Amino acid sequence: MDTILRIQQIQKSYEAMTMARPPTAPSTAEEAQVRDFKFWKTQPVPQLGKRVVESAEKRETGPIEPNKEDGEIRQEPLNLPDGYEWYATDIDQPEELDAVYDLLNENYVEDGEAMFRFEYSKKFLRWALKPPGWLRSWHLCVRAQESKKVVGFISATPAHIQVHDKENKMVEINFLCVHKKLRAKRLAPVLIKEITRRVHLTGIFQAAFTAGVFLPTPVGSCRYWHRSLNPKKLVDVRFSHLPASMTMQRMIKHYKLPTATVTPGLRPMEARDVPAVTEMLNTYLNKFVLHPIFTEDEIAHWLIPKDEVVDAYVVEDPETKELTDLTSFYTLSSTVIGHPRHSTLKAAYSFYHVPNKTPLLQLMNDALTLAQGKKFDVFNALDLQENGKVLKELKFGIGDGTLQYYLYNYACPTIQSKEVGLVML
Ligand SMILES: CC(C)(COP(=O)(O)OP(=O)(O)OC[C@H]1O[C@@H](n2cnc3c(N)ncnc32)[C@H](O)[C@@H]1OP(=O)(O)O)[C@@H](O)C(=O)NCCC(=O)NCCS
Repeated sequence: MDTILRIQQIQKSYEAMTMARPPTAPSTAEEAQVRDFKFWKTQPVPQLGKRVVESAEKRETGPIEPNKEDGEIRQEPLNLPDGYEWYATDIDQPEELDAVYDLLNENYVEDGEAMFRFEYSKKFLRWALKPPGWLRSWHLCVRAQESKKVVGFISATPAHIQVHDKENKMVEINFLCVHKKLRAKRLAPVLIKEITRRVHLTGIFQAAFTAGVFLPTPVGSCRYWHRSLNPKKLVDVRFSHLPASMTMQRMIKHYKLPTATVTPGLRPMEARDVPAVTEMLNTYLNKFVLHPIFTEDEIAHWLIPKDEVVDAYVVEDPETKELTDLTSFYTLSSTVIGHPRHSTLKAAYSFYHVPNKTPLLQLMNDALTLAQGKKFDVFNALDLQENGKVLKELKFGIGDGTLQYYLYNYACPTIQSKEVGLVML
């Protein structure tokens, strides 16, 4: 029955599709083979075809180029075309947050047929851009000098990321966006180089990022899967389609979920749970080859529930009162472009789970049940961590794009999706 739903892209996997894909960026390894990568070939990233060696004696994991000394880091911002300026935005100022929100809302990732576009809410952006250790200088805009209109954006946030057996201070790069009218003018490489310079100035020389496009060279590739919660609306907005052999009634029945969760002791996470959740999640994530290491402050930031941003639930053993498991998801809607009746598709995205005592299948089914209760239309998950073992059984359908994981200035052997423990927003 899984094939009854031809899931269309509504994820970062959108980026692999034609509309969002800039003409300058390929989406597959095959396309990439015949490209020049004028910018990326100048960067400290593993170049295509240069496979990293892994053998019993030797595993090449580590920086590609050494850390720069102070004197080697350019002190002035990179040059921009005439009429444009750099601006480190203050997202605590409502009008400045509005400007970034508007840029992303109108110009960020779309599906191939321009039917859906990510709509990161203002609340979500504040959450995503301000984890512990955030810096204003890493909320980087390109503005038109006269009008002050924001036409480009890129962000960095700090993170500790373990790759194989090495822990590294890195940044996560996100929200790279250039206004549609300024595309294919080589502004993206300038944004990337300027954020790199700003990160270097703080003594960090590695980064992690994801993209739908294929660049030199992914460290790993994940697929998005989608679980229908509101089949009728998904068919209405053409996110899914109803096969000729199927009626809407049958489809609704197929995706029906229980009205209540089944795991005893499952409850929303609270501030008092932070130490136990930090311990539990870090221990669990250690099973994976690529994963973050969280401080308690970071866990408090990323997982204490925030309405319409992030939901996290812990399982508290009814007898011992100990926390045994965790499940979580974040909220990321998409604008439904040009639809007469629907303007928004409300999607939940699988975040971090710890299936210690409760099987992942049950934990995720409870997450689906909770998401349905909160009126989400669809639940999306990558096939990373142990998700791949349960997605089919939970009636997820596979998406048709790939989310590539990249490390900047770091080489290591390729990591399989089930070895990836890092979820990026
Ligand atoms: C991604 C985006 C900023 C690229 O800008 P653009 O105007 O299309 O391309 P530019 O002419 O400025 O730059 C082209 C270079 O950027 C690279 N590039 C394109 N998309 C990229 C991405 N997502 N991440 C990193 N580099 C990217 C291209 O490969 C090319 O470099 P190359 O010569 O080495 O191949 C723009 O298309 C955009 O805003 N798209 C919608 C939002 C989006 O997809 N953001 C990325 C989310 S991961």
